[in-house]
Amino acid sequence: MKSMLKGLIKKVVPIDFLNPEGEQGIKKRGHREYVGGMWDEIGQLQFDFLLRKGLKPDSFLLDIACGSLRLGVKVIPYLQASHYLGIEKEGSLVKAGLENELDPALRAEKEPNIVISDSFEFEKFEKKADFAIAQSLFTHLSPALITLCFRKLYLYLQDDGVFYATYFETDRKIKNPKKSHAHAIFSYTQEEMIDFGEMNGFTADYIGNWNHPRNQVIVEYKKV
Ligand SMILES: C[S@@+](CC[C@H](N)C(=O)[O-])C[C@H]1O[C@@H](n2cnc3c(N)ncnc32)[C@H](O)[C@@H]1O
Repeated sequence: MKSMLKGLIKKVVPIDFLNPEGEQGIKKRGHREYVGGMWDEIGQLQFDFLLRKGLKPDSFLLDIACGSLRLGVKVIPYLQASHYLGIEKEGSLVKAGLENELDPALRAEKEPNIVISDSFEFEKFEKKADFAIAQSLFTHLSPALITLCFRKLYLYLQDDGVFYATYFETDRKIKNPKKSHAHAIFSYTQEEMIDFGEMNGFTADYIGNWNHPRNQVIVEYKKV
């Protein structure tokens, strides 16, 4: 009975009422929970993965949808000053990360570059990226926005750069939510994820399991 009611509530109460996006949601859930919690684990997972893939202190890293800097707190101390490029649509999430998670002296020394934008305005950075990562972004985005991300990234990734994107995988194409939303779950097939890249000038190399605690898989994209 209880679970039937829960299901019914989910159906009739819009997701934005239960889990509001933006400032209201960040206030309600806190900046760590808003991006999904598992703060240390998922930050370290991304950092270790990028190191294994060849990230070096002098690389320029683009953290697409950097949130409250779950990866940032691990990688900013490692990278040379101004080599961390973060882009995120929620300004208050970034503010909370900068103020609560990053030591002020380290922030002054490392000068992370962060752009607040929901339309992948990579042109606002002065440098092109050697490495880019979108961890748990496409899990919340419609195909139109994923396509925009790839299209814009093509111009701002170095020719020998590499982009890693995570997603929830489904065997068969499913009906995803109508609209992108921070707390709506989108799943894609391997073929769909490869197509997003290939239709926008990238080759796609499926990696799959990378030990994500919520079973998101990962793909490596390179410019053709
Ligand atoms: C699940 S969180 C992951 C954040 C971060 N990548 C991490 O691993 O902590 C998804 C993030 O995507 C951001 N986001 C959603 N749509 C976006 C867009 N169009 N442009 C930039 N950021 C976006 C959300 O605000 C949220 O911070």
